[in-house]
Amino acid sequence: MKNIDARFCKMKYRSPRAWTTVLLCVLISGRLVEAIEPVCSSLLLGTGVAALGRKLYHYLYETCNESWLNFNAIGLKNDLNTKLYGQHVAAEVIIKAVTGFMNNKTPKKPLVLSLHGWTGTGKNFVSQLIAENIYEKGMTSNFVHLFTATAHFPHEAHIDSYKTQLQEWIRGNVSICPRSMFIFDEMDKMHPGLIDSIKPYLDFYDNLNGVSYRQAIFIFLSNAGGENIVQVALDFWRDAREREEIQLKDLETALSLSVFNNKNSGFWHTSLIDKNLVDFFVPFLPLEYKHIIQCGLAEMVSKGHVPDKEVVESMARDLNYFPKEERVFSMQGCKVIPSRLDFYI
Ligand SMILES: Nc1ncnc2c1ncn2[C@@H]1O[C@H](COP(=O)(O)OP(=O)(O)OP(=O)(O)O)[C@@H](O)[C@H]1O
Ligand SMILES: [Mg+2]
Repeated sequence: MKNIDARFCKMKYRSPRAWTTVLLCVLISGRLVEAIEPVCSSLLLGTGVAALGRKLYHYLYETCNESWLNFNAIGLKNDLNTKLYGQHVAAEVIIKAVTGFMNNKTPKKPLVLSLHGWTGTGKNFVSQLIAENIYEKGMTSNFVHLFTATAHFPHEAHIDSYKTQLQEWIRGNVSICPRSMFIFDEMDKMHPGLIDSIKPYLDFYDNLNGVSYRQAIFIFLSNAGGENIVQVALDFWRDAREREEIQLKDLETALSLSVFNNKNSGFWHTSLIDKNLVDFFVPFLPLEYKHIIQCGLAEMVSKGHVPDKEVVESMARDLNYFPKEERVFSMQGCKVIPSRLDFYI
């Protein structure tokens, strides 16, 4: 304001009338500035406060933008290669699948992963690592949703209301944040009708009632196929072949036999597979003694102790292994380690 007034005043100073104008100008501009200054200052201050408030809001409260949601491809690769033990096949598939999807600006459908394997082999753990490398708040993010079949959908009689609630939940949350993640645990215990009800969201639609699901991630976890995967790993072990030699193709047949052809499995009733809605079936191998040791040492560190191999070995020896005679694979995987370890420290 001050600069504009000064320029206007300079133009008029040559004639005597101009001097009057100058005088007037000085008086008026002084008053004007006086009058306008508080308004300007409050406006400036107001805008500043609003901008600061917005920044503070985005800083404190999770929003669906890059300050809270930023895929870290290197972080995911490192985590899967260093924190996840004995799962070379799963790690490779997950890295490729998630990185490919996240780097694709225009995916044709949401990413759908189906994780299969024996108990305690790292299925939930991997979902957590994926979440941590996409969302700043990891599993506690408002954009990550975990459903457990037996806890969230326990009564078959309520299946119709579960369907509506689940569809509403997915639709509502994807409209708030297209990059939402939905994890369905115990997928093999999910009612087939319920799986059917989420099918449209997994498909190749551009949008459904104005909402596009193409940026979303769906992860299904189950023990389905676990026994057949164990059989493949056991065959390799009995043939004295390296576990690391096991490839995805060796496990795919095992998975298809148990998951796709099993009439009791929820998957069988649905057209998830027929319609190719699942992008990747990810097999988890059963864990051996050496992996239990690795899990035990990592657990000691996370509990704030100095890792002690002797302590972990005495715990690992007391766990159950199968088959009974050969004792190759841990019965509970790494799942019981956090609670068991306390008795040995
Ligand atoms: N392969 C692994 N590498 C490292 N840690 C593991 C692995 N598997 C399991 N763990 C540890 O054990 C805990 C329990 O494993 P997790 O819950 O992921 O098993 P799960 O495969 O989901 O089992 P379930 O089929 O019984 O649900 C994890 O939080 C993690 O600390
Ligand atoms: Mg689990």
